[in-house]
Amino acid sequence: MAKNMESIPPQEDRRGFFSKAAAVVIGGLVGVIPFGAGLATLLDPIFRKGDKGEFRKIAALDAIPDDGFPRRYPVIATQRDAWNVYPNQPIGAIYLRRLPGESTVEAINAVCPHAGCFVDFNREAGDGGLFQCPCHRSDFKPDGERLEPETCPSPRNLDTLEVDQKKLAKGEVWVDFKNFKAGHPEKEPIQ
Ligand code: FES
Repeated sequence: MAKNMESIPPQEDRRGFFSKAAAVVIGGLVGVIPFGAGLATLLDPIFRKGDKGEFRKIAALDAIPDDGFPRRYPVIATQRDAWNVYPNQPIGAIYLRRLPGESTVEAINAVCPHAGCFVDFNREAGDGGLFQCPCHRSDFKPDGERLEPETCPSPRNLDTLEVDQKKLAKGEVWVDFKNFKAGHPEKEPIQ
């Protein structure tokens, strides 16, 4: 009888055992839930449509003067990291150009392909204006072609971008915004 009494843990010990067991379970859940949430967030970009290479609305067609001069527009997008969403962030800049009397639009990335500086458009330069890079003096014609390819520091012309023609027919300019590797003679998108 005395032996049986010894094998039954006192009430205090049982309470302690259950408290410890509950602490272990809750501690495990507290660790697992944020891990699961973090994993889902980290995996989410795999399934989410990326910020690179998407058509983005830049302007209304009517807002672009049809005088043949390129005009600069910011590219705005929502950016995300593992924990936060940042709406309306500037992610780049492009030039849009409309020739006189035309409803077609040319889109050019504002980044110089030489080393990544932003080019300016100078209406007074050359014949009908030039894109000029302030960093190492690459000059480009209004359609993005290098003015003097043999001596130009830039290894290629400015990077043209695709305009969504269906949206354009409805009066909206949507551009497939991408950045490309600097310093390469070929136009290679940055993934
Ligand atoms: S970055 Fe434009 S010329 Fe060098």
